[in-house]
Amino acid sequence: MLASNVLLLCLLATVSANKTLSSIATTLADNSATLAFNLYQNMAKDKDIENILISPVVVASSLGLVALGGKSNTASQVKTVLSAASVKDEQLHSGLSELLTEVSNPKARNVTWKISNRFYGPSSVSFVDDFLKSSKKHYNYDHSKINFRDKRSAVKAINDWASKSTDGKLPEVTKDVEKTDGAMIINAMFYKPHWNEQFHHKMVDNRGFLVHRSFTVSVPMMHRTGIYGFLDDTTNKLLVLEMPLAHKMSSLVLIMPYHVESLERVEKLLTRQQLNTWVSAMEQKAVAISLPKVSMEVSHNLQKHLAELGLTEAVDKAKADLSNISGKKDLYLSNVFHASAMEWDTEGNPPDTSIFGTDQLKNPKLFYADHPFVFLVKDNKTNSILFMGRLIRPKGDKMRDEL
Ligand SMILES: *[C@@H]1O[C@H](CO)[C@@H](O)[C@H](O)[C@H]1NC(C)=O
Ligand SMILES: *[C@@H]1O[C@H](CO)[C@@H](O)[C@H](O)[C@H]1NC(C)=O
Ligand SMILES: *[C@@H]1O[C@H](CO)[C@@H](O)[C@H](O)[C@H]1NC(C)=O
Ligand SMILES: *[C@@H]1O[C@H](CO)[C@@H](O)[C@H](O)[C@H]1NC(C)=O
Repeated sequence: MLASNVLLLCLLATVSANKTLSSIATTLADNSATLAFNLYQNMAKDKDIENILISPVVVASSLGLVALGGKSNTASQVKTVLSAASVKDEQLHSGLSELLTEVSNPKARNVTWKISNRFYGPSSVSFVDDFLKSSKKHYNYDHSKINFRDKRSAVKAINDWASKSTDGKLPEVTKDVEKTDGAMIINAMFYKPHWNEQFHHKMVDNRGFLVHRSFTVSVPMMHRTGIYGFLDDTTNKLLVLEMPLAHKMSSLVLIMPYHVESLERVEKLLTRQQLNTWVSAMEQKAVAISLPKVSMEVSHNLQKHLAELGLTEAVDKAKADLSNISGKKDLYLSNVFHASAMEWDTEGNPPDTSIFGTDQLKNPKLFYADHPFVFLVKDNKTNSILFMGRLIRPKGDKMRDEL
């Protein structure tokens, strides 16, 4: 009885998710994956950034918002950054909207992914009605005016909004706002993957995570052995692991050097093509996995990075034309805060117990993630990248140096 109900639920979830993506959304999914690597590589060069956590499909939809509010070059640069120069405006907006709705559907995908977006204008701005309506419709943005004369309470208002819209999971977007004379885009997200096969909640203990050779922090680690996509790339001295998330509609791919080292070497290899090469070379193997059970809260100001990828006008006070937002040429994009909390936890669907104690799980490969690695949440249906990042420094207390 219970089993058949579960089966029915699974069927329902599958049916509701089984809608083919339009060709324009398919193209934009592909383009957003290219954007993912470009943006990641641009950020990885920045010596001030440690952990990285970005959602390329959400960044793409924020770019869509700029196209919606922009005119002439300010708008057309968005399409260049998205490699979508020939796509018509209306198609761009409906395609990006369709893509994000598909990949963030919590029921069909059995993930927790709360996405809140807000566009802040200076208190002098008056928003055009049309923009308010279409940005809500396509990109689920709400709007607010913000007065930086009292900077401390303005920053607090932003952080309070982010915290509230993520149920407290993301307490802070920023400590300070440097440029206060423009408009701001803010994404505040909470993401929690739901494994296709859960970890046992009791298979968790404290271990050391080597941030670098001489700095170790104590983190809870979760452990499980199962059948996973695995590749030992002996040429590049790294391991690649693919862990399906619920319903196998997306998966987490981890890329980790054999030993603790700066990720620079691995990141030099990291292209979309290389990822495809790794993924297609993976084999299903028994793997004993240990992963930090931590929550990552990371906030980036993408303004500079997007400018370096070609969005130069929207962020330039002298050149920006965002007059479809306010009816006047009086706005530029001074900040693009992209902030997410990602919770790495044990939860997931019940594992396939029939293979426990069988030969299939004998002599597992080891994937012991106790040092920095790169990861991606890859969507199995749209080929988009839901998240991309690196974990260098998890939260945790410093451990006494080993002798
Ligand atoms: C959708 O469902 C049909 C029938 O159940 C199946 O043949 C088809 O392969 C499914 N399509 C996708 C994209 O999952
Ligand atoms: C921007 O405004 C112009 C009219 O000023 C309008 O023709 C155009 O469709 C608007 N663009 C968008 C994306 O709303
Ligand atoms: C995922 O599915 C499980 C079991 O069906 C359920 O308990 C859980 O609440 C679901 N989570 C989400 C986020 O939908
Ligand atoms: C992707 O989806 C297909 C079809 O549902 C499934 O067979 C495959 O295992 C999935 N891949 C991953 C990595 O989850």
